Amino acid sequence: MFDVIGQTVKAFSQIRLGPWQGLGDTLLVGEGNLSFAKSLLRQPAVQITHMTATTYEKEKDLSEEVRQNAALLQRCGALVMHGVDATHLEKSFRPYEFDTIIFQFPNVGSREAKHGHNPNHVMIRKFLRSAVPYLSSAGKILISAVDSPHYQGAFQFDDAATFAGYATPESYPFDPSLFPGYSHTNTNDDESALDEHSRFATWVFRLKK
Ligand SMILES: C[S@@+](CC[C@H](N)C(=O)[O-])C[C@H]1O[C@@H](n2cnc3c(N)ncnc32)[C@H](O)[C@@H]1O
Repeated sequence: MFDVIGQTVKAFSQIRLGPWQGLGDTLLVGEGNLSFAKSLLRQPAVQITHMTATTYEKEKDLSEEVRQNAALLQRCGALVMHGVDATHLEKSFRPYEFDTIIFQFPNVGSREAKHGHNPNHVMIRKFLRSAVPYLSSAGKILISAVDSPHYQGAFQFDDAATFAGYATPESYPFDPSLFPGYSHTNTNDDESALDEHSRFATWVFRLKK
């Protein structure tokens, strides 16, 4: 009887977490205030074996809150790095293969077109291409974003995947409430785009076989 209840609870938890389980050796890029990394470390169900959490911002530019989050992550055994450009991972990492690479709500904070494309699309293309040598063959990249035609038009995840050598990504609903303590912040201010939207998704990218 208790076995059945236990298995049912486990099955529900697996459905709720979707792609957020079996993460293994995990790299997070563009972490902003590091609160998502902190929330993940508090959740055994996501099965992280080692975490490398990074911010784009350089150490000298970090707020006291981010410094405190970085210190807490380090005390929990995570490696924390600053000034990491997700579009040029080779500038920060020697050859290495992560099981999972995560970029939560990427945003360059500019609307200026680059080479005739939306700058966020260009950034995602470059990030996916830069991540290829840092992903194990069975590994996955998780990118969460607002799930709306406007944001999908901006990112064009399917085109970015094809450009960088990944299969067409699958998407799963992303529920921020499953990640206690995660306080998403925008790129250019302390507001949160999550307050202005209600539908979010995580796109899962795997290398093309
Ligand atoms: C909307 S914020 C989200 C921050 C955090 N991931 C979260 O969910 O709260 C977008 C983040 O992308 C970062 N970013 C922009 N360009 C980047 C790049 N080339 N490499 C890494 N991070 C970048 C910004 O510094 C910013 O922290």
